[in-house]
Amino acid sequence: MSSKINIQWFPGHMTKARRDIQDKLKMVDMVIELRDARVPAASANPLIKDIIGSKPRLIVLTKADLADEKETLKWIKYFNDEQNRVIAVDALETGAVKAVVNNCIELMQPMIERQKRRGIKPRPIRCMVCGIPNVGKSTLINQIAKKKVAATGNRPGVTKSLQWIKSGKQIELLDTPGVLWPKFDDEQVGLRLAVTGAIKDQILPLEEVAYYAIRYLIDACPQSLSERYQVAINNNEHEMLVAIGKQKGILIHGGEVDIKRTLVLFMKDIRECKFGRLTWERCDEVH
Ligand code: G4P
Repeated sequence: MSSKINIQWFPGHMTKARRDIQDKLKMVDMVIELRDARVPAASANPLIKDIIGSKPRLIVLTKADLADEKETLKWIKYFNDEQNRVIAVDALETGAVKAVVNNCIELMQPMIERQKRRGIKPRPIRCMVCGIPNVGKSTLINQIAKKKVAATGNRPGVTKSLQWIKSGKQIELLDTPGVLWPKFDDEQVGLRLAVTGAIKDQILPLEEVAYYAIRYLIDACPQSLSERYQVAINNNEHEMLVAIGKQKGILIHGGEVDIKRTLVLFMKDIRECKFGRLTWERCDEVH
């Protein structure tokens, strides 16, 4: 870990989140774990398996519309090889609901069959959505509910009675997601989460995040970087940023480049996918 980057994993948060999720787990048959398709490993909570125990789990890679399709396929294969059921979706699209519901039904087929054998009419499968902040939990729940219901999930201290959202006759979803924190005491993980906007800009020095992004773009798609700003590729990240600021005319008195404002513009471009669909965590490199 570099001396500039010193991020803490708040154990207090995690203890509370864990207790909260374990309470809700008693009420559900399975868990829908959301991860960001652009950072499928970094956006996981390393304790998830431990927390959910033996409950069946469907991994949903959200924001697949922003990720590199080829990389997403590699990640899906990796998760499948590890005996996980996984799908990739754009949670803003209505089709995501169908894919999630169908996969929950397939995953819970043994339970459905068991009920049938006992002569019980299968009841809806009860699910809980879990994931780190900003991964799309509310978006998916709202899609399933076909209205805005999940607005309280991320706000500590906001409690309300739990309700079930129905999707057809087959699925019931807890209306409040389980919020898990990512573990970002590893520098790479922290930078990946910062680049995708999963952790707030105040947590990591923006300059470090931008340098990381520049290094990644130079490796992954140097042409888009150079064409977007009309600058030559320079392996010195700071000089590259200065060149971008100069080209964009982001100057302070005396004609010097305003680094702070250049950083903000660059990070905005990254988050708005101005360099195309990108996966910031390559499957081959992580595993
Ligand atoms: P959360 O409950 O897990 O915290 O996440 P939430 O649903 O609030 O989603 C966070 C942001 O991510 C939202 O953007 C939402 O629209 C976006 N989002 C969620 N799923 C997808 C997806 O599959 N594809 C894309 N492209 N975007 C997705 P926002 O309201 O603009 O918030 P913000 O980005 O300004 O924080």
